[in-house]
Amino acid sequence: RYRMSTLAFRALSGSLGGEVSGLDLSNPLDDQTFAAIKSFWLERVVFVARGLDDLTPEQLVAFTRRFGEPHVFHVSRYTMPGNPEVYVISNVVENGKPLGATGAGTWWHTDEMYLEKPAHCTLLYGKEVPPEGGDTIFADMYAAYAALSEAMRDRIDRLQVVVTRVKTYESYYPHRPPLSEDEKAALPDVVHPLVRVHPETGRKALFCGGGEAAWNIVGLPLFEGQALLRTLRDFATLPRFVYAHEWRPGDLLVWDNRCALHAATLYDTELHRRIMYRTTVHGEAPIAPAQAAA
Ligand code: OGA
Ligand code: MN
Repeated sequence: RYRMSTLAFRALSGSLGGEVSGLDLSNPLDDQTFAAIKSFWLERVVFVARGLDDLTPEQLVAFTRRFGEPHVFHVSRYTMPGNPEVYVISNVVENGKPLGATGAGTWWHTDEMYLEKPAHCTLLYGKEVPPEGGDTIFADMYAAYAALSEAMRDRIDRLQVVVTRVKTYESYYPHRPPLSEDEKAALPDVVHPLVRVHPETGRKALFCGGGEAAWNIVGLPLFEGQALLRTLRDFATLPRFVYAHEWRPGDLLVWDNRCALHAATLYDTELHRRIMYRTTVHGEAPIAPAQAAA
């Protein structure tokens, strides 16, 4: 019933990024194989499995389930008919109907930070990818945090971020239909620690978000909070903390949102098609350093 995969693991860049070869998701994975994948993922933060050309949405959801309960994206017009756990990101329009969300995540962010329990794990499958552009880039928030001065770390360990979806959605997505009142009501602002302790590795990571979600810092004037968030983000996304993934069709990426920022790079949407399937798993509310120490 189970197929024992023969997997190979290798690191792809400095501190984050890895490749898992030999992954076969056409049958359920045995627990031992999944445990090996999971520990590689925790160590490398993001990994790719290539050549999964025939991966079905059902197989993607089944693999997602190994990481936890799949989450259904809050804008139902972008979820896949019949497979609501799959959120479709695409520029393709078929019979006048967009296949999915356009222009998603083209700035540094961590997924669904605007929820009390943000996505801890994201899977992104490249069904069709452009020959150039449309990369997904990742920044290592463990390494960025560790590289800050001790004074800065002490200061930000105690800070909290106000995160809002509603106040930012329309300015970030002017080309999309606005959120409905019901969609807005389901998205109250939330507060997260600016530094979080990873519940599985125990390591500290910056959780500064990007432009979209992290609105301000609790207790600071807006301009000061936003300047600090920008400074932290600009530092944390310096090339030495970054792994850039160039997609091939059939790639599956899995990343840990608790310790990485990511962004989609631009591509020529007039010339090229890009169809991506995304699933997420929502874990726990972020843990602040003081909470972890208590
Ligand atoms: C997202 C996202 C990355 C990409 O939709 O949240 O980060 O490369 N997408 O499409
Ligand atoms: Mn994202």
